[in-house]
Amino acid sequence: MKLSFKEHFPLKTYNTFGVEAFAKEYVEVHSEEALAQLFTEYRAMTQQPMLVLGGGSNILFTTDFDGLVIRIAIPGIRHSLSQNTVTVTAGAGVVWNELVWYCVDREFAGIENLALIPGTVGAAPIQNIGAYGVEQKDVFVNCRVFDTHRGEFSTFDKEACRFSYRESYFKREAKGRYIITEVTFQLSLTPSINTSYGTISAELAKRGIAKPTIKDIATVVSAIRTEKLPDPSTIGNSGSFFKNPIVPVSYLEQLQSTFPDKDFVFYPVGTDHVKLAAGWLIEQCGWKGKRIGDAGTWKNQALVLVNHKDASGSAIYDLSQRIINDVKAQFGITLEREVNIL
Ligand code: EPU
Repeated sequence: MKLSFKEHFPLKTYNTFGVEAFAKEYVEVHSEEALAQLFTEYRAMTQQPMLVLGGGSNILFTTDFDGLVIRIAIPGIRHSLSQNTVTVTAGAGVVWNELVWYCVDREFAGIENLALIPGTVGAAPIQNIGAYGVEQKDVFVNCRVFDTHRGEFSTFDKEACRFSYRESYFKREAKGRYIITEVTFQLSLTPSINTSYGTISAELAKRGIAKPTIKDIATVVSAIRTEKLPDPSTIGNSGSFFKNPIVPVSYLEQLQSTFPDKDFVFYPVGTDHVKLAAGWLIEQCGWKGKRIGDAGTWKNQALVLVNHKDASGSAIYDLSQRIINDVKAQFGITLEREVNIL
């Protein structure tokens, strides 16, 4: 099979921020064989800096990429049933939301709360995507990866992936080393509906749904996301730009006594930490719905940075730095970016 390389390739439609950037070289890979071939037959190509792209939904290009961009487009979903358990395996290039609906339509429960998250299956474990009380690690079994150092395929189980909040081994210690080619999840035919997240139960009540099916959950989650978050096909964005900061309970108490009039939004993490809502902190600093040129924060969700039209990656990055500085000055908390910056 012949791989097709493109030079000076425009990435504007390959990143959901919709910022302009060019790759020196670009190649699309549709199978594991093609990926192996890329590393055996195109040594010169793969010895230059390399960037693996899935749906481009968690990346901000602040500059052109002076190397090879590999877009993983491996398709396919298959499943097998054993009593109440369903094992679903999907190619890394499958659009995450398509996998969600493949499962919801067949009543395979477990990822319905993750409906409409942008990006591909292969990117899901890297930042351990999560929403509405569920993280992908809750259903993850293993993933197949290509080790770019050793030039071979292997399988990572859940423990090896070292998942935590929006983190994994692939994003931290092993950054850039492995390419995920397919992911296997374990779902169930007997749903345990998770409506713990306040907005889900409120939306269900509004619709008069007392006993939700997983299809109801996926529908309601999609509606909430659509209302709260901008659609990347019309307004460039990458979902939450920052992580929600986790601080000791004692620090929250200190903040509460410094700002007695403010109603801090937080969720317990274990017994002695809390996760603060970064969107709330940013809004308190006056940034919600603000824009500087075409870079801004979303009017309904200050945690989401947006490209209103022609913002450059560096303009969005500069805005994120101003937000970090203001939140630090006001609350003494350093926000960490969730999005990868290039
Ligand atoms: N809030 C504000 N002002 C804002 C934004 C939020 O006051 O501008 C408050 C809300 O009122 C709410 C709280 O902050 O009480 C939490 O807001 P929301 O429910 O929108 O969730 P989030 O913590 O901002 C996280 C994830 C999202 C995920 C939602 C729902 C992170 C970084 N983000 O956002 O994930 O969809 O919860 O589970 O953990 C993503 O990672 O890209 C993403 C969109």
